[in-house]
Amino acid sequence: MCGILGYIGNQKKTVDVLLQGLSRLEYRGYDSSGIAIIQNGKSKVFKSKGKLSKLKTKINKHSPKGSLGIGHTRWATHGDASQKNAHPHISGGTSVVHNGIIENYLDLKNELKKKGYKFYSDTDTEVIAHLIEDMSASGLDFEDAARAAFKKIEGSYAIAVISDKNPDKVIATRKFSPLILAIGDHENYLASDVPAILPFSRKVVYLEDGDVAVLERDNVRITDLDGNELKRKVQSINWDPISVEKCGYRHFMMKEIYEQPQAILDTMRGRFSEETGEIFLEGFDPAMFKDINRIVALACGTSYHASLIGKYMIEKIAKVSVEVDIASEFRYRNPIIDRKTLAIAVSQSGETADTSEALVEAKSRGAKTISITNVMMSKIARDSDRVIYTHAGPEIGVASTKAFTTQLIAFYLFAIYLGRIKKQITKKQAIEMIKDALSIPQLIQVVLKLDNQIKELAKEFFTYRNFLYLGRGINYPIAFEGALKLKEISYIHAEGYAAGEMKHGPIALIDEDMPIVLIAPGDGVSNKKILGNLQEVRARKGKVIFLTSDLSAPEIKGNVDKIIEVPDCPNLLSPIVSIVPLQLLAYHIATYKGTDVDQPRNLAKVVTVE
Ligand code: AGP
Repeated sequence: MCGILGYIGNQKKTVDVLLQGLSRLEYRGYDSSGIAIIQNGKSKVFKSKGKLSKLKTKINKHSPKGSLGIGHTRWATHGDASQKNAHPHISGGTSVVHNGIIENYLDLKNELKKKGYKFYSDTDTEVIAHLIEDMSASGLDFEDAARAAFKKIEGSYAIAVISDKNPDKVIATRKFSPLILAIGDHENYLASDVPAILPFSRKVVYLEDGDVAVLERDNVRITDLDGNELKRKVQSINWDPISVEKCGYRHFMMKEIYEQPQAILDTMRGRFSEETGEIFLEGFDPAMFKDINRIVALACGTSYHASLIGKYMIEKIAKVSVEVDIASEFRYRNPIIDRKTLAIAVSQSGETADTSEALVEAKSRGAKTISITNVMMSKIARDSDRVIYTHAGPEIGVASTKAFTTQLIAFYLFAIYLGRIKKQITKKQAIEMIKDALSIPQLIQVVLKLDNQIKELAKEFFTYRNFLYLGRGINYPIAFEGALKLKEISYIHAEGYAAGEMKHGPIALIDEDMPIVLIAPGDGVSNKKILGNLQEVRARKGKVIFLTSDLSAPEIKGNVDKIIEVPDCPNLLSPIVSIVPLQLLAYHIATYKGTDVDQPRNLAKVVTVE
C-alpha cells in the first residue's frame, strides 16, 4: 500500500504539488505522511502521524521552498503508525520514500549496522536510505549509488529518492508495486497512481519492473538496473481531472455511488451492437475461448462478491462451469487447472497482491487468463492475456461502489460474448440481453431517488451493534456485499448469508436487537422462499428491513419494519440495482455514527501485501 510522489520543476511550488498529490493518494494509506524538499542544497523533512491534514498544518508554519521533493502517505507494514516510522527516511543527505515490503531488510540492516549506520525507525524502508548513502561513500555518484542499492534489495517496492549531493534529480524504481511518471513542461512528476498527477499532466509513462527512472527538470531517462537506457511509451490519459474532485459531495463514496449510472454506460460503450447482438471486447478473439470448458474467477473482497455474481451470469448464459476462489487461498491449495481452464482475475485496482499472485499461479499451471480491472496497465492487466477494463473512472473512497457495479456489467458482457461463442444463446436472445443491460442506468437513477428515505431509515438503525443480511439466488452475494459495506465504513458487525443457511446456525442470533436486511427483488422462486425466511425471523422478533420490487405477497404486510422498494429488473442484472440502496444505507449509518467514510480505520484502498 502507501502512496508515493515526486516532483522536479520550477513551474509550481513543490510543496503545493506534493501536498495536493498526496491528498489524492491518501486513499492508499493514511497512518502517517511526510515530505522532503531540497531547499538551498539541504533536505528539509516534515513528517506527521495521522492524516495528511496534520502534516499540512505542520508545514504551513514553515512553507519550505525548493524545486524538487518527494512525498509519502503510509499504510503501516513494518513498525507502528508513528512519526518515527513515517517516511521519508533519511541517511546523510539521502531521503527515501517507499511503497511495498523489503523482504531481506533484516540481513541488510545487520550488515549496515556493522558498518556503523544508526537506525531510527522500525521500518524496512530505512535500509534503502543507508544503502544508497553507503554506496555513495564508496565513491559512486548518486545515480550509480541508487542503482547499486536497488540491486541489493529484494521484495516488492516502488521507491523515490533525492539527495543533497545531487539536488537536480529525483530517482525512482519499481518492482511489483505501481509507479508512473508524468511528463510536464519543464517539470516532471512521479506517483503511485494516475489520480495524483491528473490535474498537472496527462502524459504518462507506466514504469515496468526493474526500471530506474531519472527525473530532471527538462528530461526523463529510464534505464535498467545496470544503467542501460530503455525506451518506454508515453501514454495519454483520458480521465477528467474533475473525476478526482468531490464536486460538492461530502464524501467521495457518495459521489461514486451517484456516478454508477454513468460508469455502467461508460463500461458498456462501444462494446455491443443492438442490431446483431454482438459483443466487442478489445483484443478478444473467439478462438481463444473455443476450447474453454471451465472457468475459475480469482478475487478478493468486493471483487470476490462480483465474481460470485459473475458465476451465476456465465453459468446461466454461456453454460460453462465457474468456480470462484478467494485469491489468497487459491495458490495454497494445489488448484486443478489445465489448458481448457480460463482464469478471470477481478480487481478494481489491478494491484491486489493476492489476486495478482493467484493469476500468476493459474497462468503457470497452463490456464488462459483474462482480467476485469479498472486501472489501465496495472499489474494484473499486464499479466493477463486479455483485459476487460471497467470504465468506472478513479474510485477514491476506500469502500468500493462503482467499481463493483461496473465489474458486474463487465461479467454480463463477457457472459453474452461467451454464450454466443458456445452457441448457448441465439442472436435474438443476445439482443434482448443487451437491451436489458441498457435499462440498468435508468433503474439505478430510480433507486438513487430513495436516498432521503434511506437516510431516515439509517437514523433509526445506526445505534444497533449487529446486522444480518440475507439473500438468495443471484442476490445472495449481495448479502455479503451489503454486510461488507456496513462493517467497513460504520464498524458495525454485519454478516451476510445465503438465506437458506439461516436455519443452519445464524438463526440462533436473532432477537429484537438484531436487524435483518432481507434482499428479495423480483418475484421468482428465490423470493417465495425468502418470504419463508421472513416468517422465521419474525417469529423470533428480529427487526426486518425488506428490500423488494414486489409488494404483492400477503406475508409482507405487518411482518416487516421497513421496506426499501426497488424497481423491477431482469433477474440476472438485479444485483446491480439491489446493491445501490445497501451502499446508501451503509453510507448514512456511517455518517450518523460520525466515522471517516472515505478513509475508514485500518483499511487502505489498495492491498499490495499478502
Ligand atoms: C471493498 O469495499 C474493499 N475495500 C476491498 O474488499 C476490495 O474490494 C479488495 O481489497 C479488493 O480490491 P481490488 O478490487 O482492488 O483487487
